[in-house]
Amino acid sequence: MKKSKKRMAMLLAAMFAVTALMLGLAGCGSDKDKGEADGKKPLKVGIVQLVEHPSLDTIRENIVAELEAEGFKDGDTITINYQNAQNEMNNLKTICQSLVADKSDVIVAITTPAAQAAFSETKDIPIIFAAVTDPVAAELVSDLNAPGGNITGTSDRVSAAKIMDLALQITPDIKTIGALYNSSEVNSQSVVADLKDYAQQKGLTVREAAVTNANEIQQAAQSLAGKCDAAFSPIDNTVASAMSVASSEFIKAKIPFYVGADSMVKDGGLATFGINYTVLGAETGKMVGAVLNGEKTEAMPVKLMEDMDTYVNGKTAAAIGVTIPLNVSEMATDLGA
Ligand code: TRP
Repeated sequence: MKKSKKRMAMLLAAMFAVTALMLGLAGCGSDKDKGEADGKKPLKVGIVQLVEHPSLDTIRENIVAELEAEGFKDGDTITINYQNAQNEMNNLKTICQSLVADKSDVIVAITTPAAQAAFSETKDIPIIFAAVTDPVAAELVSDLNAPGGNITGTSDRVSAAKIMDLALQITPDIKTIGALYNSSEVNSQSVVADLKDYAQQKGLTVREAAVTNANEIQQAAQSLAGKCDAAFSPIDNTVASAMSVASSEFIKAKIPFYVGADSMVKDGGLATFGINYTVLGAETGKMVGAVLNGEKTEAMPVKLMEDMDTYVNGKTAAAIGVTIPLNVSEMATDLGA
């Protein structure tokens, strides 16, 4: 009796030991994963950016800063591989292919064309996009609240109607609006479509000058200047990358030039009602951090930016002989210093 009790106890102890060993092994596995995330093997963050212009650079810098604030430091817990396509679609494709081949843990795509290029290369690696104006029209997600796939991110959707309301407060005599944009950028197409709706409601005419690359901007702006009372460019990467060329043509012709982003006002545009790209960059960084922490893009809604501000360029206003009305200048940030 005593003997069998002892045997039973030994058996239980053995079973306990085996169970403990199994649990221990499992625990060991997860420790190893954590170890990798903690820096033994840095996670790979690939960043693809369409082109260099001030707004996109601000976004990227703030993504990186947010990641660092969350403990994801380049060269330490993560390795950042940043590539710029210099506004060449072929470059975008090669860059995205290399980020996939490199087995990036997450791809950060800055702008609509960059996000489209990344999404066409992988349906597995998580992609976080930054500043995609219309993610649904760009066919990246079908529902902003339920992305459902390997891609989500931040949107910088702006309202052409609100920018034009501001335009009519500053220069009320507008009858014809000239739209300068790259017709192959979906982000611009969406906003120009809204502009046309607005114009129709207000009985205004829209004249379009669509370009396909930055080299065509000067001529397009010049010819548009002779046909409109005010010019308008949406959040168009091609115009933004050659903004000083576009704005100097309109300033020469004394045409008020309304634009889609604060950086375009800083580069000589007259005014906008737009989002804050520093905040957008930080929000994008948070989403990238969440993915690095194991969250799934499928369940992360696209983030829209709430705080909008009025930006004007006092220097441009003076150069074209426009007085910014007091009720506008009181609430606006003057970027024309
Ligand atoms: N929204 C643009 C896109 O979808 C990218 C962008 C961000 C941008 N900030 C901008 C374009 C400022 C022009 C100006 O591709």
